[in-house]
Amino acid sequence: MHRIHSHRVLAEKIHEFWIEAPLVARKYRAGQFVIVRTHEFGERIPLTVVEADANSGRIRLIVQEAGKSTILMCRLQAGEHFLDVVGPLGRATHIENWGNLVAVCGGVGTASLLPIVRAAAAAGNSVYAVIGSRSKDLMILEDEFRAACKEVRVSTDDGTYGIKGFVTDVLRQWIEQGQKFQQAIIVGPVIMMKVAAALTKELAIPALASLNPIMVDGTGMCGGCRVTVHGKTYFACVDGPEFDAHGVDFQELILRNQAYRNLEERALHGLLDKGCQLTAQLEGAKHA
Ligand code: NAD
Ligand code: FES
Repeated sequence: MHRIHSHRVLAEKIHEFWIEAPLVARKYRAGQFVIVRTHEFGERIPLTVVEADANSGRIRLIVQEAGKSTILMCRLQAGEHFLDVVGPLGRATHIENWGNLVAVCGGVGTASLLPIVRAAAAAGNSVYAVIGSRSKDLMILEDEFRAACKEVRVSTDDGTYGIKGFVTDVLRQWIEQGQKFQQAIIVGPVIMMKVAAALTKELAIPALASLNPIMVDGTGMCGGCRVTVHGKTYFACVDGPEFDAHGVDFQELILRNQAYRNLEERALHGLLDKGCQLTAQLEGAKHA
């Protein structure tokens, strides 16, 4: 059991938890993730570790309410517990002294990039970032990015804050203004990573993308997280989650991530497991 030390809402449907996980906190390196279950019948949810404090034994997780499991998770309060936290999983980000690194962050993917940005800056890189969200209210972690980066540009789809447009529009504009980047790292919704990968390829900027396929065991056994990169099959949980963005078959990833959409929606509406007390809990909370 892992006690929730704190829980706060960062933006609509985006929650921050600090939880007690001392073994993870001790071994974690930037880029790694954990798989969390909040209760016995719960789905296994992969989440990037945003920060770890080995002294207090706590790790920071940022979760978007997306389906039944994450909605239930986000109802838990400080003092309550997650059932288990497995990790740290995946390979740590391979950080070199690239020179100018640009972090391209879409929506809640911004949280996954924060530790990498910090580690890259600590390794001597000049780090730049583009953070995009649908609107001003959904922008997260901007101050922490500004503290770690040489320059941060922000965009919103609706123009309520920063530049109106997508992160890829901002990146293109920045380069057209003469800015040079030796490396990019991209995290966000798959469609955004697909577009950002195509743009960096066109601009001849090497790029990594942190992929978010469906995961089950997180140890390379189930094949659920299979991705294709440069025509070869990899398991994102053990071979990734970061891959050469220019080789990723994003269309396959989009299709695989949609495979259980109907079941997820039915689970959310309590159709799959009417007998489960957590469905009752969800229904109760919905009607509270
Ligand atoms: P969102 O849909 O609000 O998009 C965030 C930003 O991405 C937009 O503001 C825009 O700048 C950019 N974007 C979106 N569509 C684009 C397009 N077609 N072209 C160029 N740029 C585009 O994001 P959200 O709701 O916060 O994201 C949720 C998704 O992100 C979920 O599917 C989640 O699984 C995924 N996610 C991925 C990772 C990862 O590791 N790759 C981490 C966290 C979340
Ligand atoms: Fe099962 Fe990666 S999650 S192989």
